[in-house]
Amino acid sequence: MRIRSNTYQKVCHLIASNIRDLVKGHDNPVLGLATGSTPIGIYKELSTGVRNTNFSETITFNLDEYVGLNSWHPQSYNHYMYDHLFGNLTFKKRFFPSVNGVDLYDELIEAYGGIDIQILGIGTNGHIAFNEPGTPRKSKTHIVDLTENTIKDNSRFFDSKEEVPTQAITMGIDTIMKTKRIYLVAQGSHKKEILERAVHGEITPEVPASFLQEHPNCEVFSCD
Ligand code: PGA
Repeated sequence: MRIRSNTYQKVCHLIASNIRDLVKGHDNPVLGLATGSTPIGIYKELSTGVRNTNFSETITFNLDEYVGLNSWHPQSYNHYMYDHLFGNLTFKKRFFPSVNGVDLYDELIEAYGGIDIQILGIGTNGHIAFNEPGTPRKSKTHIVDLTENTIKDNSRFFDSKEEVPTQAITMGIDTIMKTKRIYLVAQGSHKKEILERAVHGEITPEVPASFLQEHPNCEVFSCD
């Protein structure tokens, strides 16, 4: 695994093009989608350059969702996806992990043939999705207590830190490791140090993104 540096715009353009190529050349493409500020440019590219791409046979699986916010809460990830992608494009089916189906999410992904392309961000503490430091390699989709660090990072989207949910449901490390291709994007100078540790440091549950070193097809991008 190596870190490729480029501008945010170029990285988003490249990933969106690779997604379009997958969708054009596949009967039942399956995408793994992330939220947060990092993927917004990718979704913008997909939403604006669609004339030749038909997503109506594409299935999507989101990485995570807060526990305790309904889908129409402005900060829910359901709402985020509607704002940035699902409101612009038609997909065949769109799945989010939910408290009720927590044990079935991995099976559902497998039933659709597995995720062909997974978009991933990285937290400043090395988390991927909501797999916080200490999450075991074998974890499947599960409910997590968010760390203080993540609550603080995400409080910028809420009116106050107290409004940030304290739990979320997330694909596990094992779920993510089973995806066929991963694009990990770290945007901003505040992510550089943790990205370095994830890519070149020891593989350890203390830096969940470090497990990606063992993924056979993971591309890592750093941008400003
Ligand atoms: P960000 O979050 O894209 O909003 O920086 C990434 C993450 O915490 O996984």
